Amino acid sequence: MTTTPRFVVTPSTHPLSDAERAEQLRVLSFGRTFTDHMVVIPYRDGAWQQGEVKAYGPLMLDPSASALHYGQAIFEGFKAFSQPDGSIKTFRPEANAERFNRSARRLAMPDLPVDLFMEAADLLINLDAAWVPKNVGESLYLRPLMIATDAFLGVRPSNEYLFVLFASPAGAYFPQGVKPVTVWISEDYVRAAPGGTGEAKCAGNYAASLVAQAQAQEKGCDQVVWLDAVERRYIEEMGGMNLFFVYQEEGKSVIVTPELTGTLLPGITRRSLLELARDLGYESSERKLTVQQWRDDVAAGRLTEVFACGTAAVITPVGKAKANGFELSINNGQNGPVTMALREALLAIQHGTVEDRHHWMHQV
Ligand code: PLP
Ligand code: COI
Repeated sequence: MTTTPRFVVTPSTHPLSDAERAEQLRVLSFGRTFTDHMVVIPYRDGAWQQGEVKAYGPLMLDPSASALHYGQAIFEGFKAFSQPDGSIKTFRPEANAERFNRSARRLAMPDLPVDLFMEAADLLINLDAAWVPKNVGESLYLRPLMIATDAFLGVRPSNEYLFVLFASPAGAYFPQGVKPVTVWISEDYVRAAPGGTGEAKCAGNYAASLVAQAQAQEKGCDQVVWLDAVERRYIEEMGGMNLFFVYQEEGKSVIVTPELTGTLLPGITRRSLLELARDLGYESSERKLTVQQWRDDVAAGRLTEVFACGTAAVITPVGKAKANGFELSINNGQNGPVTMALREALLAIQHGTVEDRHHWMHQV
């Protein structure tokens, strides 16, 4: 009996030349350059079909495809890093595969088996291995997504879906690099309400955030900070990043992050830093934190640093927070020592320059 291979690989007939690729990799920002290949796996008749690895390019979609109308669309983001021995490793890809499935369930979409997600990623990364940047702070960003493709206008879960995975060599997410950002605490908009989709990485959450992000920029800020939808007091997260607050308590540094209440995205970087903190001798805590506490604790000198974290942004210091009626400087707008120590420790694990004690790295 022969079994059908899970993927058919059709190499691109027009990959970039070595010189063209080197030019693309010379100066990297975030999300502008894409590698030569992508993976697509269709879902129909209640099952994932044979996948295809092929040249990166446009997708064909029916104009009535339900993702375009009703937003059944989810995505993920994780990174592959070049290692000192020349091999390539990804950071906690199973965690992304599992969160992908939690997002899928919330949007009434089918699960994608974790091993299929992993195999698709390893195949693509190996095929486009020359695209993995070598410099510290640079990586190959993997973007898996799933969209509903039924050509049908009724509002119900689609019967057909498409999983797509592509890759993009990435440098710093913020154009200024690792410099503190200024954040706008949004009082006019909320990101997610209890019972909503805040925990899912679905396209609609990001669409709904854009007007608040534009408002933040009008106010001279880089990013929005979201508050809880009910009391509008508790700090939740940022546009595409979780937040941490560094406290000095009884002579120790404690990293505090808003607890997961169901309305914020359970970040994989967030989860990792809670563990990594202990390795560096810091305490960590997940708890609720109000804007008023933020202001009071900075004023009292107890809250010494604030930073944001996420796959794309790694760890980015927050130097200033603004809202209607007040402005707050944190650590004199400078990068703080705890923030930078955590950033270095995380990057060292990802780039393979220290032992991976938590077994976070996956050999591609
Ligand atoms: N919060 C939001 C809204 C995000 O989009 C992201 C990015 O994925 C994060 C937090 C950070 O999550 P992770 O660390 O898994 O990238
Ligand atoms: C990520 O960090 O992977 C994100 O998805 C954040 C943003 C680019 C949407």
